[in-house]
Amino acid sequence: MRILAIESSCDETAVAIVEDGCSTLAECIASQASLHSQFGGVVPELASRKHVEAMPWVLEEVLQKAGLSLEEIDAFAVTQGPGLVGALLVGVTAAKALASVTGKPLYAVHHIMGHICANYLEHEAFEPPFVCLVASGGHSHLIYCPQEGLYQILGRTRDDAAGEAFDKVARVLGLSYPGGPAIESLAKEGNPTAFEFPEAKLGKDSYDFSFSGLKTYAMNRLHQAKQKDEALCQADFAASFQHSVVQTLLKQSLRACETLGCKRLALAGGVVANQTLTSTFQQACHKHGLQFFAPSKRLCTDNAEMIGAAAYRMILAGAKPSTSTLNAKPSWRIDEVLESIAMEAKGE
Ligand code: KG4
Ligand code: ZN
Repeated sequence: MRILAIESSCDETAVAIVEDGCSTLAECIASQASLHSQFGGVVPELASRKHVEAMPWVLEEVLQKAGLSLEEIDAFAVTQGPGLVGALLVGVTAAKALASVTGKPLYAVHHIMGHICANYLEHEAFEPPFVCLVASGGHSHLIYCPQEGLYQILGRTRDDAAGEAFDKVARVLGLSYPGGPAIESLAKEGNPTAFEFPEAKLGKDSYDFSFSGLKTYAMNRLHQAKQKDEALCQADFAASFQHSVVQTLLKQSLRACETLGCKRLALAGGVVANQTLTSTFQQACHKHGLQFFAPSKRLCTDNAEMIGAAAYRMILAGAKPSTSTLNAKPSWRIDEVLESIAMEAKGE
């Protein structure tokens, strides 16, 4: 089954053709990162306009690369949410038009399900049961999948997402947007134990995260240094901040695997493009006898292949295609989609 998938929830116009949910026939991403970096973050209005400009040629390029015509596509998939409404609408409109002219079904995908399913694209052995840590610019979730089609949210961030903390601290450090990669490269020359950061206290049984205290502490410490003309080593600061975020994410993930007796730990989302994070998790999994899965760097950040992979799993689980009334859902909660997947899996 060949699925043509579209992702346009934030600042990447991405299209891919994915076969049988696991192999990519062609893909193309038009990134707007350099445009938004001038403003220190994504400007929604500009993002929508750039998606409109890029969508036609990105689509054409993908079909050309794959050597396929629209008639040879079996189904379409699109990110319905969450994300920026104007940006999502461009993808949703394009996907509806394609489904309408070809008469092929269209599947609406939740962006986070896409991130999780990126693991299916590269790891044949990836299958439930697994615990998956999703850390992106807008989300930090710990999800348990005991069996195909059944997902349980163990924990989530109570305030800022991990990526948001990276982006905001990077801004105060004077680094470019997006902040995660900038902090990672600065941290390479720094000492991860040079600075100590506060740890959020969330109760011993909670799998939630909280990054706002850590972020505020980091930002205040940087402002304070500036006011006092204190020579603060930025590389040490970046390395220590990164270390603190990674340890928080790792601690909760390992505890979830241990408590649930789950032997597979997977990573997903833009923040896990961080090589220090993945190697720290990999070593910890090895030490604790856990199987470790993470998408390659390219598939951690937003892309359309993951949307195609997620749509394929939805089709396998018996999901119904969307109708022509499909609309963007900018605030679509992951809980809603997990509930409906579970109901579909039970045939309700
Ligand atoms: O998944 P993603 O591409 O978009 C969302 O769904 O939000 O994630 C983007 C987030 C940004 O906050 C960015 O700073 C962060 O992922 N990120 C990183 C790295 N690469 C991207 N954070 C830490 N280290 C990185 N190498
Ligand atoms: Zn994302």
